[in-house]
Amino acid sequence: MKQYNFDEMIDRHGTNAIKVDMLKELFGKEDLIPLWVADMDFRTPDFIINAIQERCKHEIFGYTSAPDNYFESIINWVDYKYHWKVEQEWINYIPGIVKGIGMALDCFTQPGDKVIIQPPVYHPFRLIPEGMKREVVYNPLRLTAEGYEMDFEQLESIIDKECKVFILCNPHNPGGIVWSKETLVRLAEICAKNHILVISDEIHSEMAYPQHKHHPFATVSETASSCALTFMAPSKTFNIAGIVTSYSIIPDREIREQFYTYLEARGMGEGTIFAYTATTAAYTYGAEWLQQMRMYIMENVRYVEKFIQTNIPQIKVYLPQASFLIWLDCRELQLSQEALVRFFVDKAGLALNDGSMFGSGGEGYMRLNIGCPRAVLEQAMNALQKAMKKK
Ligand SMILES: Cc1ncc(COP(=O)(O)O)c(C=O)c1O
Repeated sequence: MKQYNFDEMIDRHGTNAIKVDMLKELFGKEDLIPLWVADMDFRTPDFIINAIQERCKHEIFGYTSAPDNYFESIINWVDYKYHWKVEQEWINYIPGIVKGIGMALDCFTQPGDKVIIQPPVYHPFRLIPEGMKREVVYNPLRLTAEGYEMDFEQLESIIDKECKVFILCNPHNPGGIVWSKETLVRLAEICAKNHILVISDEIHSEMAYPQHKHHPFATVSETASSCALTFMAPSKTFNIAGIVTSYSIIPDREIREQFYTYLEARGMGEGTIFAYTATTAAYTYGAEWLQQMRMYIMENVRYVEKFIQTNIPQIKVYLPQASFLIWLDCRELQLSQEALVRFFVDKAGLALNDGSMFGSGGEGYMRLNIGCPRAVLEQAMNALQKAMKKK
């Protein structure tokens, strides 16, 4: 069996990679270790590169429809990963999940309608509805000794007739939480009872760790299926975010007809050649690479957890259950948010995400991207330890 090398160091400078080439603009400095925007520093797997190179040999890149094996690869993958049997007509290409959320809000809501989100959460969940003049209402996650949980009492108390959409992060970014089936069932009951559409963003689901089973929201009950619009993608998993390839799955006929008619009318559901090629290759040949990548990431989690526990115990590692992002609780450092961010940048030379960008509950936290060779993490952890000593 082929062994992939995740230790390989690849210089991304000069490729316009946001993660490395925008450091100066966004952090004020260039010489930082980039551990922020959520893509990985691993080489895109060979089976995807080969498929793209193969297609390139033809040398005509005209208008191209979705090949049947594109749908087939998604259907088989979703069955393999989650035992979810989906039908081809439930699936549609979308040009990214963030754009998908914007399109769904445009399709199902009006300016002034309310959209519920659960901070601390992926910031476009707030920015997109706000930019579209929808009112964002908050159902903050509750942090308990066992970890984050949804606050259903608070949710029921904020719901009124203007609430039209709930944006679910499943698994949750930045906490890396794989929601239990019971949680999702209860959420579905509340949303369905109140005629609220649940947009379930499942972009991180393929990277749930083996001991944490991901449940696509639409599969947890018939009620959930009746109010769900699911977004998935191979882009995070296989490090192809720049190719822009995501898709929606909608089992409910009414929701599906409304959304897919909306997409078709605007010509927005058409994929690109390389989106189809890359997705099909990822889902046809990607299982083994993904296993190996996930193992490597889990080792990275263990490394960071142990290093910080041993050397920087003032920082608490919130252990992720999926994906390559670690939520660091830095509240014990007792720094203002601005001073915390400056500490990481100026003293440690590290570019992490400022926890407060994810909304309330994010203050005092930083988000660390560990989708990189271990040697980079080692360098980063040593730099952090050194900075702590001088603090
Ligand atoms: C929860 C979540 N949704 C969506 C995205 C981005 O998806 P896309 O590139 O398909 O818009 C990210 C990227 O970090 C994410 O973490």
